[in-house]
Amino acid sequence: MPALGFGTLIPDPALTITATRDALDAGFRHFDCAERYGNEREVGRALAAGLAAGGIARSEIFVTTKVWNTNHRPERVQPAFDASLGRLGLNYLDLYLIHTPFAFQPGDEQDPRDQDGNVVYDRGVTLLDTWQAMESLMDGGKCRAIGLSDIGLDELKAIYEAARIKPAAVQVESHPYLPEWELLEFCKEKGMVLLAFAPLGHGMKPGLLEDPVIAGVAARVGKTAAQVLLAWAVQRGTALLTTPRSAARARENFDISALPADALEEINRIQTRQRLNPVVTTGVPGFIPKAQGA
Ligand SMILES: NC(=O)c1ccc[n+]([C@@H]2O[C@H](COP(=O)([O-])OP(=O)(O)OC[C@H]3O[C@@H](n4cnc5c(N)ncnc54)[C@H](OP(=O)(O)O)[C@@H]3O)[C@@H](O)[C@H]2O)c1
Repeated sequence: MPALGFGTLIPDPALTITATRDALDAGFRHFDCAERYGNEREVGRALAAGLAAGGIARSEIFVTTKVWNTNHRPERVQPAFDASLGRLGLNYLDLYLIHTPFAFQPGDEQDPRDQDGNVVYDRGVTLLDTWQAMESLMDGGKCRAIGLSDIGLDELKAIYEAARIKPAAVQVESHPYLPEWELLEFCKEKGMVLLAFAPLGHGMKPGLLEDPVIAGVAARVGKTAAQVLLAWAVQRGTALLTTPRSAARARENFDISALPADALEEINRIQTRQRLNPVVTTGVPGFIPKAQGA
């Protein structure tokens, strides 16, 4: 898996296409998608055009997508996988993730709610049931690796222990305000990739991009705050997902270089602790606008 990943959580379809093309042109070769983002078709179209224009082979890119909470029932996993593959216009996936450990009422409504507006969960399926259906996908040959997302260490350990095919990657929020050192250590020990989302703190301001320690390191090394945050993520041994939406930012975010050891240590000493995305508590994704059915 290329360490620098481009995340496709972009609500606007036209912007999805241009940003994906820009990322490919800037050098990104790892693309993170999800059926929940509602734009797999646009990503697939942008990738197909970009690969053809750049003479880039399918084998040179790494594509991930994720099964949504409403498809956790084992019999729904293969159809969800096939549907994603079809929308992306691909004949295999490099990585397929369980988007969150929360099973929602199965069906076409991605955000099922009761009359009071509460999420309708599906108590009739366990995460291990879903994982075993993911393992069966691997047997089918169109799925090269499987993993989990938005999961805590204890739940991950339980799946790891029970799994016939161990998770290859775990996608979670991680940045200097939420370093997840214990999870990272477990992943390294077991040969799993920790794939960090929100490496720039979702671009929120005030936030990581304006943190005085990050700004100080950036000024010292002659890089931008974003480049410092992405370099820190790679150097500590994670892969990452970032979502630049313009060509200039795609080039900026791809152009990272190693930070000196004292800068890494300084960033590691940041005391602020903050989780930005509430998806881990309910399975309901943050940062997906209502317009998409959230
Ligand atoms: N598993 C999950 O539940 C989950 C949850 C969230 C995200 N993800 C994945 O992670 C991907 C990354 O999303 P993220 O929000 O976490 O990414 P991020 O890179 O932390 O934040 C993206 C935000 O940062 C801004 N930005 C990007 N490059 C910048 C730069 N060089 N300087 C200043 N600002 C910059 C963007 O602003 P502009 O829009 O103005 O360019 C955007 O608002 C998503 O696309 C998705 O694939 C997964």
